[in-house]
Amino acid sequence: MNTDIVFFQLFEPESSTYTYIIGDKKSKNAAIIDPVIETIERDLNFLKELDLNLRYIFDTHVHADHITSAGMLREKLGAKTGVSSGAGVQCVDINIEDGQEFLLGDKKIKAVATPGHTDSCMSYYFEGVVFTGDTLLIRGCGRTDFQQGSTEKLFHSVREKLFKLPDHTIVYPAHDYKGFTSSTIELEKKYNPRLKLENDYETFKKIMDELKLAYPKKIDASLPANIKCGLGLNLPSFKANINNGIPEISCEELNAVMKKGNPKFQLIDVRGSDEFTGELSHIEGAKLKTLGPELSKFLKELNRDTEIVFVCRSGARSANSTNEAKELGFKNIYNLTGGMLRWNELKYNIVK
Ligand code: FE2
Repeated sequence: MNTDIVFFQLFEPESSTYTYIIGDKKSKNAAIIDPVIETIERDLNFLKELDLNLRYIFDTHVHADHITSAGMLREKLGAKTGVSSGAGVQCVDINIEDGQEFLLGDKKIKAVATPGHTDSCMSYYFEGVVFTGDTLLIRGCGRTDFQQGSTEKLFHSVREKLFKLPDHTIVYPAHDYKGFTSSTIELEKKYNPRLKLENDYETFKKIMDELKLAYPKKIDASLPANIKCGLGLNLPSFKANINNGIPEISCEELNAVMKKGNPKFQLIDVRGSDEFTGELSHIEGAKLKTLGPELSKFLKELNRDTEIVFVCRSGARSANSTNEAKELGFKNIYNLTGGMLRWNELKYNIVK
């Protein structure tokens, strides 16, 4: 690869997504392709370490399996976001057309429309490398049974656009589930079991028609979010550990989130009123709803989308409360492990 360019491939393990940072060493102008919301802190730190000026944030398509961090990166860094003009994403800065070019110093990114996986998939060619999104995966391709997918369009995009690139062009997809990181056009022409040159369209169509794929796990959350550039989301405040079926968080995590201010969850203390005002006191903002009829009545009347952290003395009664809420259909609920004992041990703020 050209030595005066910047190139990094990053990975988000939950959705097996590759994010790419590309740039021009001399001008330090850079672009990021397919950034993921879960890894935004990593990407922001890395861009800072690399001392790059982020100019563009491109998505290869409206993703169904993860939420883009494009909108948030734009808010933080001021770069322009871009996605294919056909995607109908109104919050983007650039509605990209087939063949459109973007400069990073004297290097060029060229957009190549490759519909099929979705109707508005865009690949990006840069200095002997092509970012193929979900159109061409290593030894595979994206599914075509959702988001106006079309086997015919995908076949045509790969054969008439991507396979027309020089054989030595390096292929970097948006995902890999088998441990591959890159391929070449030549290798895919030979070994891609679906799209290799010896397969005709009928063979490809048969393969695609016979795929029995599960409904994408995160599609219901991802599509509406990605149409809004990943902004305005109602993301849960915590990443819970599941212990015996009960989601739990530590006092350290709760304290860290509370320090950021504006908590959007309810903190429900399920102890008795004497304990609430007793020696261990309670956390600021906590509401007292004693386990038993009082808590049950409160939960039954509460909107099931409400996020709740349950707290008690040591974490046992709050685990029962979390379970009760779970059975009532609450989704974003957490048991605070260690309870007020642990909270006091860590000398975190209590109401005095
Ligand atoms: Fe996709």
